Amino acid sequence: MIVGTVSAAVVVVRNRRRVRLFAGKVVFMRCSVRRRDRLFERKKRALAGIVAPRFSEHQSPWRSGPHTPKLRGVQMSSASEFLERLRRDGWVRSSQARLTPLSGGVSSEIYLVEDDTERFVVKRALPKLKVRDDWFADVSRNASEHACLECVGRLLPGVVPRVRFANAEAGYFGMEYLGDGFANWKQLLLHGVFEVRHARRAGLVLGEIHRRTAGDAELQRCFDTTANFHQLRTAPYLLTSGERQPALRDYFVAEARRLEATRECLVHGDFSPKNILLANERLVVLDCEVAWYGDPAFDAAFLLNHLFLKRLYHAPRGGELRELIGEFWREYLTARPAPGEGWEERVVNLLLLLLLARVDGKSPVEYLDPRRVQFVRDFVRGCFPAGDRTLRTLVDAWFARTHAFPAPAQRS
Ligand SMILES: Nc1ncnc2c1ncn2[C@@H]1O[C@H](COP(=O)(O)OP(=O)(O)O)[C@@H](O)[C@H]1O
Ligand SMILES: [Mg+2]
Repeated sequence: MIVGTVSAAVVVVRNRRRVRLFAGKVVFMRCSVRRRDRLFERKKRALAGIVAPRFSEHQSPWRSGPHTPKLRGVQMSSASEFLERLRRDGWVRSSQARLTPLSGGVSSEIYLVEDDTERFVVKRALPKLKVRDDWFADVSRNASEHACLECVGRLLPGVVPRVRFANAEAGYFGMEYLGDGFANWKQLLLHGVFEVRHARRAGLVLGEIHRRTAGDAELQRCFDTTANFHQLRTAPYLLTSGERQPALRDYFVAEARRLEATRECLVHGDFSPKNILLANERLVVLDCEVAWYGDPAFDAAFLLNHLFLKRLYHAPRGGELRELIGEFWREYLTARPAPGEGWEERVVNLLLLLLLARVDGKSPVEYLDPRRVQFVRDFVRGCFPAGDRTLRTLVDAWFARTHAFPAPAQRS
């Protein structure tokens, strides 16, 4: 092992050698493919809770404290201003209270508040999202999120964080902190932890939310948020992708119109593994600021899209994800056995467009290399104009074609 002092991020040098940055020092490490596989297996077992994790806190999906320990620059002034506001409004009492940002999101400020012995989370919507493209959205979505948490918490206690307080005028709310013992599903999937029970629970919870809120005029009035859904979903995902892929533009536009004209039940709008925390006996859904009374196919397709993309990320590994997809689908339909005529076709069509939207829209996934991004484009283009729109056919094609991928260069 050679230690230098060049500043560099994690870089792949050759297949068998990596450079990693530890506290400003560069560490060159040799790592054979067999050793890498052993480490991978150990990581997997650790994440499944069988042995204590051996990797750094920063990489671990398991929580034992906030993810981002330091505040800097703009974030610092925004956090101290927010803390003052919370003090003035009476939600924070101790002079020693502190805010620590929680990492992950692109659309809000979100902090862990430690006030004496109390710990909770506060969230405030940002007018401009933290992505490369300009993307602005109405901050009233913070009130929709709060209303959605209250609604789902009443119907399915424990499935969302408990709301502690809200200030709609100032655009923030406080909620229960889900700390130790919770893992983020996206991090688990990226680390190769593929647990069928997680997918089943996600399918069940989503199906229950949709079934229990279907045909409810009061909820339809409360979540009449199509303008918000347009700003946060239809425009940046579907319409932007249509502009960037002119050959498929008409499909994107038609789908956007169809979606925005549908009113069936309460839709989460961001039902993605990154917004799902898992503990032994509990699955908690976060981040419903896109809550909308609309088309449930959106949530199902959105989640499936993430499972498809995780397979691509791991390909040719990750064959287990096929079972997760099947079980998610099966449990959803157990909770909501009559999803309506054309359900599967609707979901699959939207799923294809969302696959492309996650590489060409305004919020591209960060974990695919250029070859994999191109694969998504070619695959989706090949599925239009016609084709079988059953989930099984799509899964078969996706898993068969991604199986041919060479193993990715070593990842940290
Ligand atoms: N109640 C909570 N308890 C613990 N961690 C949370 C809580 N709410 C959010 N987080 C963490 O903060 C991240 C960002 O929160 P989220 O509500 O998803 O914000 P954004 O809208 O910015 O994506 C989540 O992915 C999760 O890791
Ligand atoms: Mg989020």
